[in-house]
Amino acid sequence: MSLRTESVVAIYPGSFDPLTNGHLDLIERGRRLVGKLVISVLNNEAKHPLFSVDERMDMLSEAVEGMDNVEIDSFDGLLAEYAARLGASVILRGIRAISDYEHELQMALMNRRLRPDIETMFLLAGEGNSFISSRLVKEVARLGGNVSGLVPAAVENRLAARFSESKV
Ligand code: PNS
Repeated sequence: MSLRTESVVAIYPGSFDPLTNGHLDLIERGRRLVGKLVISVLNNEAKHPLFSVDERMDMLSEAVEGMDNVEIDSFDGLLAEYAARLGASVILRGIRAISDYEHELQMALMNRRLRPDIETMFLLAGEGNSFISSRLVKEVARLGGNVSGLVPAAVENRLAARFSESKV
């Protein structure tokens, strides 16, 4: 049974520094509900990301190859204004645990205040992914731990390369 609403453009915004299998699960499930899903990488150097926006977009593009209704983009400034410019009516976000809820609630309500016509849609993280975060993946990879199964293989390779560069 299809739940897809063809006319809906949704944005899945995030830092994606880097993309994890938790994000990918959300992309797979989210894209089945909408006509087009635009994954948008936040361009915010103040967060001191490990990967540049271009690198993060490359990793996403590789991972979503073959997903016909998915596009990759980046944004800065207000998410609600960017979503409106794109003609998106839905912001997609994932919730892993109750600890995500408070921050997500605040963001969703603020975005609704800024743009009442845009709805935030939450999907629960897959149960096997609910402990995965980009922050922990980076920490484990930086300390030489195994992140296989937590991120796509291409991301695993980029993490290894990035942390071996920083040792020289
Ligand atoms: O992957 P993240 O870091 O949890 O994503 C956070 C993101 C990009 C969704 C959030 O920081 C954001 O929307 N930033 C844009 C700035 C903005 O619109 N702020 C005010 C409304 S919350």
